[in-house]
Amino acid sequence: MEETVREQIKYAAQIIRNGGLVAFPTETVYGLGADGLNPVAVAKIFEVKNRPTFNPLILHIENEDRLNSVCNIPSDKVYDLIQEFWPGPLTLVLPKKPNVPEIVTGGFPNVGVRMPDNLIALELIKESDTPIAAPSANLFGHLSPTRAGHVQKQFGDKIDMILDGGKCSVGIESTILLVEEEEVTLLRPGGIPLESLREVIGEITLFPKKTDRPNSSGQLAYHYSPQTPLRILTIENIEKYKDEKIGAIFFKGNDSKFKFEKEIILSRSGSLSEAAANLFSTLHKLDELQLGCILIEPIPQEGLGVALMDRIQKAIAKYEMKQIL
Ligand code: TXA
Ligand code: MG
Repeated sequence: MEETVREQIKYAAQIIRNGGLVAFPTETVYGLGADGLNPVAVAKIFEVKNRPTFNPLILHIENEDRLNSVCNIPSDKVYDLIQEFWPGPLTLVLPKKPNVPEIVTGGFPNVGVRMPDNLIALELIKESDTPIAAPSANLFGHLSPTRAGHVQKQFGDKIDMILDGGKCSVGIESTILLVEEEEVTLLRPGGIPLESLREVIGEITLFPKKTDRPNSSGQLAYHYSPQTPLRILTIENIEKYKDEKIGAIFFKGNDSKFKFEKEIILSRSGSLSEAAANLFSTLHKLDELQLGCILIEPIPQEGLGVALMDRIQKAIAKYEMKQIL
């Protein structure tokens, strides 16, 4: 790591320790970080994001000691998961210890924890010497940022610092698992596909059955939306928006007879991980072009495609709901 980057991280860590806000890169999306053990600092995150306070935050940690300082381990499956997938795009929701402020967990007894696979993030946590609470660094309900510029655009001077780590390699948020003694439950699909998780720990429940759990963004009706109306690429939608400028997003390419104002391909080789890495930045890009709408081709629902379609459907839901009203 370059000396200048190291210096920036040191400076950022000082801000975190003093209760300020620092946006930082992770392999999934940029996070908006604060000292996770300082409730006043954490409250600032909700303030600048306009986020409802009931929505809990993930604590980012850099090693197992720090993990043990914030939560209890209810099952050996936790160790199997950590061994295989950390550092990486997997968040585990585990019983919190008393030092974790209620504002981090939305008042619930569990805390989400993850070890990001990004050197700047890991170094920042180590230098700050505290778990860093961070949601994705976007305004509530807006697109997640996969580049420092996306954060700058949404928050600008409202936060103390942005650490620029270039483009996020995974580009889609972490998979979230609730781990309990008897059961592991998927709360949000994300950067680690369900198939890979099942290979390591076996059965995973797909839908939370209990009602005493906080909502994961997985359960919110809509989220991650561009400002331009987004719909699935179908003949009906092409017809419906024919008098407007259409931006089209294809998985591998445009095989149709239709041509659009702007066309973007997520992965020419049909790689789901490349498509995931490009999805949010593509939506950001098209959102800048004053288009009448964005039409997106469905992604095959296997592996990472499940998480991708989840995000796409949530982004679309906002506009489908408007139409009903
Ligand atoms: O990849 C990621 O997870 C990124 C990077 C920055 O780490 N973070 C992220 O944070 O996506 P956020 O806040 O935008 O989404 C985290 C989701 C929230 O919807 C929240 O409801 C859920 O995780 N969550 C966090 N703690 C939880 C808990 N204790 N119980 C249930 N859900 C929780
Ligand atoms: Mg988010």
